[in-house]
Amino acid sequence: MADQTSTQAPSLGNLVGELIDHGMLEASLFAVLLLVGISILYYTLRTGVPPMPSHPSVRKAVFRLIPGDFSPVTIYELGCGWGGIAFDLAARYPAARVVAIELSPVPWFVCQIRRLFQRRLNLEIHRGDFLKSDLSDADLVFCYLMVAPMRGLQRKLVNDLQPGAVVITSTFALPDWKPEEVNTVPESMSANIYRYRAPG
Ligand SMILES: C[S@@+](CC[C@H](N)C(=O)[O-])C[C@H]1O[C@@H](n2cnc3c(N)ncnc32)[C@H](O)[C@@H]1O
Repeated sequence: MADQTSTQAPSLGNLVGELIDHGMLEASLFAVLLLVGISILYYTLRTGVPPMPSHPSVRKAVFRLIPGDFSPVTIYELGCGWGGIAFDLAARYPAARVVAIELSPVPWFVCQIRRLFQRRLNLEIHRGDFLKSDLSDADLVFCYLMVAPMRGLQRKLVNDLQPGAVVITSTFALPDWKPEEVNTVPESMSANIYRYRAPG
């Protein structure tokens, strides 16, 4: 009788079958999902901002608010979340350097995966705290945060930005700056989008 013992390495299919048989696959998936959830919750509590993406109509309104004759060299998206606006900015301004900053590891990782499918050579995605980043070369800054971080962000922008740099904030205003234009987006609970110029 022929020897039935195989010397071949187990295939991925066999391995997954074994894991399913022993209930390990479900346990591993559950552990990964739990860690993802805990990570998102931890960073939401830490920054005070959930990784909630901008509504598509808000995204359109943001682009309408950028002056038509404006050719930014360096653009920052502060808290880029899952990357929707950052990838759009990089596509709209191929000659600009677009720097997207995100502290929360899960959305940041999704942006990195997204980059494999949506190539944007002018887009940099950094994991970090934008309050600790140097924004001094920004011509255009965009953010969609919450009320609480806006005062700290305003201080940061006053310190870092060159006079005249364009700042667009979605839904939440900078407390002491006077916007040069405000657009309301009826499709997104009448959210306001604000455009400012950094003071001289
Ligand atoms: C409401 S989401 C907006 C996502 C994206 N900008 C958009 O409009 O679709 C805000 C993101 O900012 C991130 N964030 C908040 N504070 C931050 C900080 N200090 N540094 C980096 N990222 C921050 C949060 O983790 C969250 O993912």
